[in-house]
Amino acid sequence: MKKTILTLALSTLLMSQAFTQGSLSRSLGNLTTFSREGQRLLLNTDYGRAELTVYESGIVRVRIVKDDFRNDFSYAVVADPGEAGYTLEETQDRLVVRTDALRLDISRNPVRFSFYNPDGRLLNTDDPAFGTAWIGTEVTTYKQLLDGERFIGLGEKTGNLDRRGSAYDNWNTDNPRYGPNDDPLYVTIPFYIGMHDSLVYGIFMDNSHRSRFNFGASNDRFSSFSADDGEMDYYFMHAPSVAGILEQYTHLTGRMTMPPLWALGYQQCRWSYFPDTEVLNTAQNFRDRRIPLDVIYLDIHHMDAYKIFTWHPDRFSNPAKLLSDLKAMGIHTTLIVDPGIKVEKGYEAYEDGLQKDIFAKYPDGAVYTAQVWPGWCHFPDFTKPAAREWWGEKFRGLVNDGVTGFWNDMNEIASWGNGYTPHLVEFDWEGRKTSYREAKNVYGLLMSKSTYEGTRKLMNDHRPLILTRAGYSGLQRYTALWTGDNQATDEHMMLGCRLVNSIGLSGVAFTGVDVGGFSKDASPALFARWIGIGAFSPFFRSHTHYDTRQAEPWAYGEMVENISRNYITLRYKLLPYIYSCFRESSLNGMPVARSLAIDYTFDDKIYQYAYQNQYLFGSSILVAPVESTRDLVKVYLPAGEWYDLHSGIKLNGNNEVIAESPLHKLPVYVKAGSVIPMQKPVQSTAESPGGTLFLHIFYGHNNSSFIYYEDDGTSYNYEQGNFYSRRMSFDPDRHEVVLEKATGSKASQIREVKLILHGFPDGTRFWLDGEKLTAAKGLTDLFNALEPGDPHYLENLHKPLKTLNAGFALKDAKMVIKWE
Ligand code: NOJ
Repeated sequence: MKKTILTLALSTLLMSQAFTQGSLSRSLGNLTTFSREGQRLLLNTDYGRAELTVYESGIVRVRIVKDDFRNDFSYAVVADPGEAGYTLEETQDRLVVRTDALRLDISRNPVRFSFYNPDGRLLNTDDPAFGTAWIGTEVTTYKQLLDGERFIGLGEKTGNLDRRGSAYDNWNTDNPRYGPNDDPLYVTIPFYIGMHDSLVYGIFMDNSHRSRFNFGASNDRFSSFSADDGEMDYYFMHAPSVAGILEQYTHLTGRMTMPPLWALGYQQCRWSYFPDTEVLNTAQNFRDRRIPLDVIYLDIHHMDAYKIFTWHPDRFSNPAKLLSDLKAMGIHTTLIVDPGIKVEKGYEAYEDGLQKDIFAKYPDGAVYTAQVWPGWCHFPDFTKPAAREWWGEKFRGLVNDGVTGFWNDMNEIASWGNGYTPHLVEFDWEGRKTSYREAKNVYGLLMSKSTYEGTRKLMNDHRPLILTRAGYSGLQRYTALWTGDNQATDEHMMLGCRLVNSIGLSGVAFTGVDVGGFSKDASPALFARWIGIGAFSPFFRSHTHYDTRQAEPWAYGEMVENISRNYITLRYKLLPYIYSCFRESSLNGMPVARSLAIDYTFDDKIYQYAYQNQYLFGSSILVAPVESTRDLVKVYLPAGEWYDLHSGIKLNGNNEVIAESPLHKLPVYVKAGSVIPMQKPVQSTAESPGGTLFLHIFYGHNNSSFIYYEDDGTSYNYEQGNFYSRRMSFDPDRHEVVLEKATGSKASQIREVKLILHGFPDGTRFWLDGEKLTAAKGLTDLFNALEPGDPHYLENLHKPLKTLNAGFALKDAKMVIKWE
């Protein structure tokens, strides 16, 4: 490797001269002057300038321009630079910046950047010839490809987990019926993580123009990222692990606030449930069939002529009554909202929007018009603060009617005519003015922001559920994201897992797909399998197209109904665990669905085609998605020991295993040493799960710890400390499970804890704070109590909960469970 760098360095001078003199593109030139201003280092070169900012010891921002820097403004980044110390050393041929966490070498002639870890190991370096270069307004940074370098992330992108050898375009696009390799889709997250030689780094290019990322698609020389216009503005991050990079990236772009607890339950959607009686019937069916449900969706047919903020006068003649009936059944209602406001005299939103000047316009002042569901529409300019306020306030009527969820669709902006919006349409951009070229990719982000901020205020600071299709980096601060119009095929189901995992690797934790598939009819087998996978997704919603068959869990026959009930019920039992995982995401940016690349970064196996869809759901549960057509599948268990969720059998990791995967049995494993809190099943989160916490402890040889978390599930009071949280750790050397002292000002809803012990050696005895725990009998593995093949397998599976022993009262003080 060293030799390569040396050779390239020697050829650099010659190449760069030729490159800057004769070619169509020009790169950042030789250093002329530089100055240091606090956290910033300003470099002038004979062609262009750069500004480096030490944001944190592991984060350096790099801005590069041909001419002058523009106003420094971002919709994505919410963090200001900190005050991390750094030193600057000058040598004849370079400047060297050092922080506690990285070293940046800046060669002088020409100016090129190389990042190293504190031990001097190369993390990432510019292509010596090209560095950062322009072709017209297009700006590109070229990075030398290193041996064995892999790339993950970039948000909602099809293709493989390891993106090496591929290139992608960021241009938010309504891509109905997208195929498994189509690009671009709806979302732009120009952030990826690179890894090689046991080192990881992250790069986030904060530029919302159309952009391209090339991970060595056409050659083995460089990777590159480029934008059609604007500044090269990227953040380089280095931390010891992928989790550390995610923490840095979400430090920059923000983290989610806690979603309402009910939004983690099962959600039923179709295009569209109408009229009101149909909605009620559907809801009642769930209750009658004892299939848990928290949310029902109303797609575009709820509106009068597709006019946003209206109700259809006949189909939904008394929406407040409908919503309160649903609420009485423990069901929340989420409504779709599109940005297109129908052009129609007398329509309040149209007249008011025109009068208040909130719509995007052509340069000659004419309001931009395009066709969507309602016909000709105008589109709010969400880059204008007054338009965001306006939009937020428009939800008042719907909130008064009882709507608590807001589904932001078609916000790429989608319109008929292939969604083509002329580039010259202008946007306010917080008073700075820009064109659609720069505004398109942030449009969905800002629509979601307006919806979130407006409805949160109108709901008196209760948490709304916001869902979006389009977005840009930072969207996690306001909204959940679903992956748009997928298809009812096995291939799409597997792709959906990769999409969700990739979006999770890009700072967005609350994400999911249309379970069952949006277009085409799902086969019963596909629906059953997808519900199983959906139960282990952060956002769990079934949805389907207008033209498809009935697609509720009971519509595919009794067996599928049973399987669906079992998995949905399991989801509800896992809510204490899932909610705690969401809390973790809101604190440090760790996703809920975690690609194995997070914890097993340098295990080559996890990138293999057969295993790349596997993920951890939270820190302890490994999910191995499998097609509906297969009842045997090869699963890769990474390092450690794993319990088969169904049989309770413990398996060694670092191992490929053959798993049985009939439809009722999605291969799922629990990491040995885990502590997993569960609750009794409920039909919706509106129902109390009672005061018993079922604490599953999976015996193993590794330490682990889990932070259990509760709050009121609906308000933001947790931000002021009104929560209940405690670390629960497993220590096999000390033979202890410790429930650390509780933190937070909220009293727990838990009165009693029941231990459920998996895999402890026969005859193990237990003590709680020195007192022997009663009822050693029944110390059994929970999940091996049933015969596979039983259609009620999962349902029965959890019956042993009742038989378990060792219940004890929960105290807030530290509690120690010992075994021998
Ligand atoms: C497109 C969305 O992606 C889909 O989920 C929705 O059902 C239709 N628009 C109709 O609103």
